[in-house]
Amino acid sequence: MFKSIFRKLLVTYLAIIISVIAVLSLLISMVYNWYVFDQKQKELEKAGYYVNELLNKLENEEISQKELKTSLDSMGYISDSTIYALRIDKKALQYPKSLQMDEDLQESYLLSDLQKILDGEKVFRKKQYSEKFDMYVVFSGIPWKTNSGISGAILLFSPISQINGNLAKLNLIIWIMAFIFIIISALVIYLNSQRISKPIKQIEMAAGKLASGEPSEDLVVSTKDEIAKLAKSFNYMKHQLASTEKMRSEFIASVSHDMRTPLTSINGFVSGMLDGIVQPADYKKYLTIIKDETVRLTKLTSDILQLAKIQSGSIKLFREKHLVKDILDSVINSTRVFMNNKSIGLTLECDHAVTVYADIDKLKQILINIIDNAVKYTENGGAIWVEVTSKSTITEFRIRDTGIGISPEDLPLIFEKFYRVDKSRSSPGGTGLGLNIAKSLIELHEGKIWAVSEVGTGTEIIFELPEK
Ligand SMILES: Nc1ncnc2c1ncn2[C@@H]1O[C@H](COP(=O)(O)OP(=O)(O)O)[C@@H](O)[C@H]1O
Ligand SMILES: [Mg+2]
Repeated sequence: MFKSIFRKLLVTYLAIIISVIAVLSLLISMVYNWYVFDQKQKELEKAGYYVNELLNKLENEEISQKELKTSLDSMGYISDSTIYALRIDKKALQYPKSLQMDEDLQESYLLSDLQKILDGEKVFRKKQYSEKFDMYVVFSGIPWKTNSGISGAILLFSPISQINGNLAKLNLIIWIMAFIFIIISALVIYLNSQRISKPIKQIEMAAGKLASGEPSEDLVVSTKDEIAKLAKSFNYMKHQLASTEKMRSEFIASVSHDMRTPLTSINGFVSGMLDGIVQPADYKKYLTIIKDETVRLTKLTSDILQLAKIQSGSIKLFREKHLVKDILDSVINSTRVFMNNKSIGLTLECDHAVTVYADIDKLKQILINIIDNAVKYTENGGAIWVEVTSKSTITEFRIRDTGIGISPEDLPLIFEKFYRVDKSRSSPGGTGLGLNIAKSLIELHEGKIWAVSEVGTGTEIIFELPEK
């Protein structure tokens, strides 16, 4: 029964509200009850004291018997009570049988009360059955005080029915109000619980869909609370998963394509040789092609491995301060053969003192990837400039060539995985991963890379690495 959050909220809130309202109503009703009887007691006592005064006046012959009677009648009327004044000798109480009481005032509880009254105490009974009136009464008794001491008791009886009637009416009002309160709060609680639980339910359903691979709309939560944040994170997670999945399938498609093409041509040439279609005189030519293709496959495999390492975050940098000139000399030396083959001249502009804070192996790889491109995509007899400057908090590298250039549509894409402007096999062999690897390594160094290029004029690749 309490399985859903909605029910849990509803039941908990309702239980709290109902008990609070019930306890409050009970308290109000009890306090009012007490108050009404307290007022009645005060009223009767006050009337009693007034009667006492009148009796004393009669004794001193300040008023007549008749005047007394009229006053008593009106007192009784106002306080809705019947009033008795008993003159009793205290000693008479010791022999109850000899107690002379008004004939028709034979109330069983009176004897003990009279004893207290004659001792000077006040007596009050909230709910007393009276034999004389044959009904429940409110009873108040006070001592009859005269100059010579206590000479009797003044007793007042008031029917309880009217008080109880009023109290019942009030209690009814209190409980009706409580009921209305409970209904209103239940409604508010119901709506509130639904408001809180609905988005949770939506997230739960969306998560279920996601798990089973079904497409689902983005969650829309209009509030600004934690649940809305959860929904936002959930949407984000969903998009991340989708883009990871897209990247994964694209990656597999690219890799398998890039591997199958060289493998197919290797297979073709080897089969041709085995079947005797290729003449032994041509073997060298075809074996050279096969070798080039295996070199390309090896490069592709190592690039993919490198990329996978970077993406899994398992690459650790060993950053130290290095002299840039030394690093560049070694990188340029390793690409010298290719430049000489194409008669490309390289100009290096780098002060001896310029330093860089980097992982030396990774920086070499970045530079090789960029300079390799500059050589590859520059016609024979072109030129390359490598310029390194130390700025306030960064070291800036610029590699410029007089090559074929990149069109404005391709320029933003060259750092993407497997992106190659010329996809044909006739273009200088590459994997389309070189710049992506360079960019990832630069970002690991908290640096940035960008390119400026014009078709037919040349390309400039610029990257910055922050100083320590
Ligand atoms: N210096 C450059 N001049 C012209 N085009 C370039 C240059 N550097 C990169 N490119 C273009 O960007 C693409 C991506 O470069 P890269 O990631 O190194 O892959 P590739 O393996 O093809 O060299 C290249 O295929 C090429 O089209
Ligand atoms: Mg490259």
